[in-house]
Amino acid sequence: MNLSQHLKHPVFKVCAQICHENGWEAYVVGGYVRDLILERPSKDIDIVVVGSGMELAEKTGEKLRVKKVSLFKNFGTAHFRYKDIDVEFVGARKESYSRDSRKPVVENGTLQDDQFRRDFTINALAISLSKDNFGEVIDPFNGLEDLEKGIIRTPLDPAQTYSDDPLRMMRAIRFATQLDFKIESKSLQAILENSERLDIISKERIVDELNKIILAKEPSRGFKLLFSTRLLHRFFPEMVALQGIETISGKSHKDNFYHTLEVLDNVCMHSDNLWLRWAAILHDIAKPPTKRFDERVGWTFHGHEDLGARMTPRIFKHLKLPLDHKMKYVQKLVRLHLRPISLVKGNVTDSAVRRLLFEAGDDIEDLMLLCNADITSKNEFKVVKYRKNFEMVSQKLKDVEEKDRVRNFQPPVSGEVIMQTFGLGPCAEIGIIKTRIKDAILEGEIPNEYEEAFNYMLAMADELKLKRVSSEK
Ligand code: CTP
Repeated sequence: MNLSQHLKHPVFKVCAQICHENGWEAYVVGGYVRDLILERPSKDIDIVVVGSGMELAEKTGEKLRVKKVSLFKNFGTAHFRYKDIDVEFVGARKESYSRDSRKPVVENGTLQDDQFRRDFTINALAISLSKDNFGEVIDPFNGLEDLEKGIIRTPLDPAQTYSDDPLRMMRAIRFATQLDFKIESKSLQAILENSERLDIISKERIVDELNKIILAKEPSRGFKLLFSTRLLHRFFPEMVALQGIETISGKSHKDNFYHTLEVLDNVCMHSDNLWLRWAAILHDIAKPPTKRFDERVGWTFHGHEDLGARMTPRIFKHLKLPLDHKMKYVQKLVRLHLRPISLVKGNVTDSAVRRLLFEAGDDIEDLMLLCNADITSKNEFKVVKYRKNFEMVSQKLKDVEEKDRVRNFQPPVSGEVIMQTFGLGPCAEIGIIKTRIKDAILEGEIPNEYEEAFNYMLAMADELKLKRVSSEK
């Protein structure tokens, strides 16, 4: 196969020219080649040089007039950015790894040595940048065939490849999920046998791969593989605990692991938001610790939404996920995920809708999306009924929102006005008055307006033994 037609980026022509002048050999390798053949958008360009990667990078950078070529002498690599694309140069290497570390011992090598040390056959393809065979694909492990057939396979014995760098076990599952490929059974077996080795990899790198799985079109595929290979057990035991069905007195509950994956895939059909996807993963995370059996009512998971919300920061911290507003957003959706459904099942009062709008704020649409995705009964009849009611609640939310504007509730009477009216300094009463006004609005006793709220406050003054000192409104 020759891909010279597709090597449009100027870096390739310039590199080829310089190699020709100096008698060097260079190849495009790795993900760029894979994505070019799969017609996926390509990101970084990796170039392997048989010889000095740094020298080729400097000369190429000079010719392309890039501002800065960074040289990493210790690693023998170099990098520059040219028009939105990162270009990385490295000398061809032969590597071996020690058992307890990812840090390889590196020696100079041939292109073949370099291809051998790569993770998968589909990532070990190289394209020549030499003048005489420019664009030719060098494929010692039948990577092209694997790309065609959709197979993830290692160039070496899988046990060796995964032991060299255990992160590759995550990468295998990530690529299988992203590209909709199958992992060769020998490889799957090796992952299962080596799963414990994942423990030497940092959480950041593991979760980087995990997030790529979550951002795929159908992440459930990846999670099922993570589970069956026991990799998930190494870093996310709370999710593993969701798996399984228990039966007592002939009553079974659903398998919450597979239910969660269904909800996740449902969410993915409608949203690319990584954090909404995380909310789907965590929405039932506290079902195992809240599970009870009662002869009369069967299985219950009371309070799993609150405990789940409390578990969220811990899980985020453990997985080195951000602890900022993104975590708070996930936590909020986990805490509220049953609320729209409880409206669906019960009587929809305006005040219950107003309270939900108040608590969800601008995340109400995402919460509704999650909630809709959560309707996954095997019983078609139930699903149809829930969906119909769900539509009704959605409409009700819109109506109430238009009428009462409580989504981003701001108290109509400020603390300042309360202090002025009753001649108070900062004190607990102000909080009490504000909460009472808010509740009265949410319960529908008064409209969300200043005048009405002010009068409501005056009416409550007696009860709180407060005297009006200012006649201003
Ligand atoms: N590689 C490897 N083992 C790893 C990581 C990377 O052998 N643990 C090799 C693969 O040949 C890979 C190349 O280094 O193609 C570049 O790695 P990276 O940029 O991390 O991944 P890509 O394959 O480019 O894929 P993506 O950009 O989707 O992460």
